[in-house]
Amino acid sequence: MKQTTEFLKMKQNNEKIVMLTAYDYPSAKQAEQGGVDLILVGDSLGMVVLGYDSTIPVTMDDMIHHTKAVKRGAKDTFIVADMPFLTYHLSIKDTLINAGRLIQETGAHAVKLEGADDVIEKIAALTKAGIPVCAHLGLTPQSVGVLGGYKVQGKDAGAAKKLLEDAKKCEHAGAFAVVLECVPKQLADEVTNTLSIPVIGIGAGIEVDGQVLVYHDILGYGVERVPKFVKQYTSVNPFMIESIQSYVSEVKNNQFPEEQHSFTMNEQELKGLYG
Ligand code: KIV
Ligand code: NA
Repeated sequence: MKQTTEFLKMKQNNEKIVMLTAYDYPSAKQAEQGGVDLILVGDSLGMVVLGYDSTIPVTMDDMIHHTKAVKRGAKDTFIVADMPFLTYHLSIKDTLINAGRLIQETGAHAVKLEGADDVIEKIAALTKAGIPVCAHLGLTPQSVGVLGGYKVQGKDAGAAKKLLEDAKKCEHAGAFAVVLECVPKQLADEVTNTLSIPVIGIGAGIEVDGQVLVYHDILGYGVERVPKFVKQYTSVNPFMIESIQSYVSEVKNNQFPEEQHSFTMNEQELKGLYG
C-alpha cells in the first residue's frame, strides 16, 4: 500500500497519482483491483448512492457506515474519507473528535476537508494529532449555497490569487495533498508548480499531479448526466437494466428457473416426503 510519503515522491518523479471514489465493498474491491493509488470515500455518496441532490445531508454516521464497507473491500489501498458538512467548523475540539471517529472506527488512513480560511487551523490541528489531511479547494460542493451553484472557480484575477494563497496555506498547515476541483487549467498548473505537495485535479486539466473522479461517473452507473470534466469509460446502466428486464420477462414467461437452477430429491427422499 502506498503512503503519503510515496504520493510526494510520485509528484517529484512526475508519476501521475490516480484517485477514484468508492462507497461500498464491491466498488472498493474493483477500485483496488483496477490499480488506483488512493480511494476516496467521498461525501458525493450522498448524491450517487443515497439520492440526495447535494452533499449537505450526509452525516458522520453515513460516512462511517460506508467507509467501513470500503475498508473491507480494499484492505491494501490508502483510503481518504470526507468529513461531512459542518463537522469541522464548530471548533478544533469537535473537528478532532469527528476526524478521530472517522479514522478509528473505519480504518481509513486520512480525512479530506473542504475550503481554507477557518479550516486551515483545523488542518494543522489534525496533522499535529497524527491524522493525515487532504485539502479540497476550488469548487467545494459543501458550500454550494454560498458559491451559488456548481461553477468553475478562480476565473478572475482576485479569486485566482486567493486560491493560490489558500493552497499554500493548506500546504503550510500540513496537508499531504490538495484536491483541486473545477478551476481553469492555467490556474491549476500554477498551483501545481507552486506547491511541493501533490495536487489532485478534478476538472482542473492535465498539468496537475493526479486525477480524481467519481466511480459512478466513469462507469455510467445510475447517473443520468455527468459534468463536462468527466470521462465515461463505459456505461453499465443499459446493461444492468436490460439484465433486470430479462429476469422479469423470464419469470413472467415461465422460462426461469430452468432444470439447472433447481434442486431434486432422489427416490428414497421422495418416499419420506409422501410417507
Ligand atoms: O465527494 C467527492 O467525491 C469528492 C471528489 C469529487 C473530489 O470530494
Ligand atoms: Na466530497
